[in-house]
Amino acid sequence: MSSGGIINPKSWLFNDKVEAFNLFISLPSVQCSPKLVKSITSGESKTSVGSIEMGKSKIGRRFEGKVAIVTASTQGIGFSIAQRLGLEGASVVISSRRQKNVDEAVEKLKAQGIEVLGLACHVSNAQQRKNLIDQTVQKHGKIDVVVSNAAVNPSVDAILRTKESTLDKLWETNVKTAILLLQAASPHLSKGSSIVFISSINAFQPPAGMAMYGVTKTALLGLTKALATELAPHIRVNCVAPGFVPTHFASYITSNETKRKALEDMTTLKRLGTTEDMAATTAFLASDDASYITGETIVVSGGTPSRL
Ligand SMILES: NC(=O)c1ccc[n+]([C@@H]2O[C@H](COP(=O)([O-])OP(=O)(O)OC[C@H]3O[C@@H](n4cnc5c(N)ncnc54)[C@H](OP(=O)(O)O)[C@@H]3O)[C@@H](O)[C@H]2O)c1
Repeated sequence: MSSGGIINPKSWLFNDKVEAFNLFISLPSVQCSPKLVKSITSGESKTSVGSIEMGKSKIGRRFEGKVAIVTASTQGIGFSIAQRLGLEGASVVISSRRQKNVDEAVEKLKAQGIEVLGLACHVSNAQQRKNLIDQTVQKHGKIDVVVSNAAVNPSVDAILRTKESTLDKLWETNVKTAILLLQAASPHLSKGSSIVFISSINAFQPPAGMAMYGVTKTALLGLTKALATELAPHIRVNCVAPGFVPTHFASYITSNETKRKALEDMTTLKRLGTTEDMAATTAFLASDDASYITGETIVVSGGTPSRL
């Protein structure tokens, strides 16, 4: 534990050895109920927190005939995004590092009637990135939506004490590989297609303990603006900045109800976000409903302060 009651998030996202999950500076660590986490990560079509029902009857079919790639999508926010796009008619291409996770996620999506291709793809692996695009194009002949969702936070060090190798890993996973994937995808992006980056509320005020991670998420806001200009008028580029969402990594700290309450109290809506909340906003930005929106970031944080 670090001082001030903050659990040291030595390895936060995308590390098997989850030590903590603190998103905001000076925030206590967070507890999420096993029931909530289960409903969010299991691929069930309903959430127990009542934000939305992702039953087929409650959502549209905005992605009929569309092909959507979502990176880091075998659980958590990425999985829910793939699920939402799929339930709305998209043929989805999901991926993550571990084949076993890919296979399990594919089965869950297929069970919901979703057309899905699953591939192992560590976003830092050039060959696997190429394979992801090649197989998608081979199977579907085009790409309509790319959701760039993968990220890492391997350090809690202050920025000026962060090792060069850690800086490299952060920039590579969180920013560079997103660009490289889009470079590979861009020749196949159809007219009217859409790109969505998953940033973080930490992009607006990178917190201590996650400062460099936050800065890489800030970079995605700039990347969104720059690529929106570069790819206009036929391709839109937008970004989602989630607030706190109890994903897989939050389960480590599910024993402390008090701390979870403190985090909920930081939100205006007095609850944590769900992966489905993030999926709904991502689907909106990726859809034609957002056809006059590009270069924008939507903060999905239940009213947690981020910016004016
Ligand atoms: N949860 C939050 O509170 C929160 C808040 C703000 C922003 N975000 C952002 O939301 C995104 C998703 O986070 P999450 O909370 O949903 O995470 P999560 O539940 O932990 O899911 C992580 C997913 O990414 C895959 N993955 C991990 N490393 C990968 C890599 N190098 N290449 C490809 N896939 C990889 C994992 O599968 P494998 O293990 O099989 O690779 C898994 O499917 C991230 O960009 C994160 O920064 C999250």
